[in-house]
Amino acid sequence: MNEENEKNVLGEQVCLITGASRGIGEAIARRFYKAGARLVLLDITIGGAEKVARSLDPSGDRTFCLQADVTVEQEVQAAVEKAAGRFGRIDVAVNVAGIIRHLPIEKMSLEDFDIVVRVNLTGTFIVCKAVVPFMKKQGRGKIVNIASLGGRTGRPGVGVNYAAAKAGVIGLSQTLAREAGPAGIYVNAIAPGPILTELTKQAGPEVFAKWNAGRAVAKDGVPEDVAEAALFLASPQSDWITGVTLDINGGILIR
Ligand SMILES: NC(=O)c1ccc[n+]([C@@H]2O[C@H](COP(=O)([O-])OP(=O)(O)OC[C@H]3O[C@@H](n4cnc5c(N)ncnc54)[C@H](O)[C@@H]3O)[C@@H](O)[C@H]2O)c1
Repeated sequence: MNEENEKNVLGEQVCLITGASRGIGEAIARRFYKAGARLVLLDITIGGAEKVARSLDPSGDRTFCLQADVTVEQEVQAAVEKAAGRFGRIDVAVNVAGIIRHLPIEKMSLEDFDIVVRVNLTGTFIVCKAVVPFMKKQGRGKIVNIASLGGRTGRPGVGVNYAAAKAGVIGLSQTLAREAGPAGIYVNAIAPGPILTELTKQAGPEVFAKWNAGRAVAKDGVPEDVAEAALFLASPQSDWITGVTLDINGGILIR
């Protein structure tokens, strides 16, 4: 695809990406920008998102960074309103913000369980709730929620908190797809297998290898693999697809 056609894939659509300061969120931001999007980059630690925005768009015409914690409804509401004020609309929301605390159940405190569910699942709910009214008014919108292979099938060492939260993200996405579909809102999830990011680097190479057990292909997963899938689900190219969970895991899960 040449550069002009590439820019038409998202054609100046306003795309809100949470967890955009690094890793998968950053890769999605970079890919969407290349596809012509105007970006709203939201993160609890904003420095990374601002760096990403500056490197893509020194003029700041097509990027807007907002600091917010996805678990705090008032912060998210205020951020979404500011974003809509700046660009006039919200076409796409990609929920990427997430954390992992992979402990065996005997060592997992209630706080470990709650915080992982709160960021990954409740945060996704809060952002969806904030953007749906804008999308309804526009008569169209696309939501892409980042789940995980860990929420799709039992996986070694991801933690019951993370698996429960990500399975919840899939259920939320399916039900919201039904609820909001008549208003022209598409809702899909992506369930990535292990992807090389800071989050997985912190787990260490042994855990990363364990998470990759049974993979069909030799290639490690990288953030750009998730970004391509997110672009497809955010773009009009996927206009007959809603309520799906797209597994991208190099063939760890084949069924
Ligand atoms: N890396 C993987 O192997 C993998 C696999 C499957 C799914 N995922 C999911 O993909 C998403 C991104 O993972 P990653 O590896 O890029 O992680 P990462 O830790 O590199 O990035 C996560 C980003 O989310 C932000 N964030 C965390 N809590 C937040 C909050 N309360 N409010 C707003 N922002 C917050 C962080 O500041 C960070 O910028 C997560 O939801 C993760 O569960 C990752």
